[in-house]
Amino acid sequence: MTDTSPKSFSPRIFSGIQPSGGLTLGNYLGAIKRFVAAQEQGIETIYCLVDLHAITVWQDPAKLRNATRELAAGYLAAGIDPRRSILFNQSQVPAHAQLAWIFNCVARMGWLRRMTQFKDKAGKHAEEASVGLFAYPNLMAADILVYHATHVPVGEDQKQHLELARDIAIKFNHDFGLEFFPVVEPVIEGAATRVMSLRDGTKKMSKSDPSDQSRINLTDDADAIASKIRKARTDPEPLPESVDGLEGRAEARNLVNIYAALADIAPAEVIAQFGGQGFGALKPALAELAVEKLSPLNAEMRRLMQDPAEIDRLLGEGAERAHSIAQPILEQTLDIVGMIRSRRG
Ligand code: AMP
Ligand code: TRP
Repeated sequence: MTDTSPKSFSPRIFSGIQPSGGLTLGNYLGAIKRFVAAQEQGIETIYCLVDLHAITVWQDPAKLRNATRELAAGYLAAGIDPRRSILFNQSQVPAHAQLAWIFNCVARMGWLRRMTQFKDKAGKHAEEASVGLFAYPNLMAADILVYHATHVPVGEDQKQHLELARDIAIKFNHDFGLEFFPVVEPVIEGAATRVMSLRDGTKKMSKSDPSDQSRINLTDDADAIASKIRKARTDPEPLPESVDGLEGRAEARNLVNIYAALADIAPAEVIAQFGGQGFGALKPALAELAVEKLSPLNAEMRRLMQDPAEIDRLLGEGAERAHSIAQPILEQTLDIVGMIRSRRG
């Protein structure tokens, strides 16, 4: 039987990205770049390509396979080291889906109805949305909690889902009268927790935006990057002399934040350099910086994509390591809930 005494949880980082289309600068600055920083801190890091989440909306099977490999190549090119971090695709570790079922029975309808991402994605067609799209945050909670992960680096848009994961952990622990799941901490840090569209500073930069001009894709070449930054929407005022002056100027703030995150400096330092000048100064400098930082990544992704079998092999190895952590935690959960486990082998 499972030891149900209270535990203290050692720090473990988990995060995931959906392989539903290409990676954007938002994914890179808000997520992947931070995943690499976490890996460098020497904490155990587990990174997942959440293919089961991707199919909550229709995915062409061949494109899904390709997007999964491309996402893996993006992680690797950005500096995720498959020996130091565990990198794998979600569907190779069945414990995620099994724990998600249990969480479907813990989370309440009202909690999920409050999720703004579902409302945004389903829009006026909620009746036609898949059940998976509605229950998606329960699977996300399972992704994290099946590893007893304590910290989850994400962009700002995932905050509400992480609060739900905390509520699920608290309710499970309360219902069964033990401290089995950790109450996870969101890690939403840095200048680029919400990179905005280059066409509309009030909208998040997203891979699903119909306008390709709205985003920088990690697969864009130098010309495309420079041209998108040059054409990025701005206002007619010069840049302010202090960060406070960015208030109410969403497009200006966005370009300053992107610059800061790419250069690993604070937005105030960007303002110190460009304050009082027009976008004619900031934009070319930003284009140059973006090309300098993204081109090597782009080239490495393309190199890695030439050997898809090697990517699949790495994901398989990562999945094996992930499974060996997740399976015992899933089995303990089943014991706690009262499931008989007597099958041999
Ligand atoms: P997704 O592409 O929706 O699977 O998101 C993967 C990760 O990238 C999550 O941690 C998101 O919060 C993050 N992310 C996505 N878009 C942005 C953005 N525009 N700015 C900052 N982070 C983002
Ligand atoms: N829902 C996240 C997104 O769309 C992706 C995700 C799935 C995730 N499972 C996760 C992120 C677990 C962090 C931890 O961006």
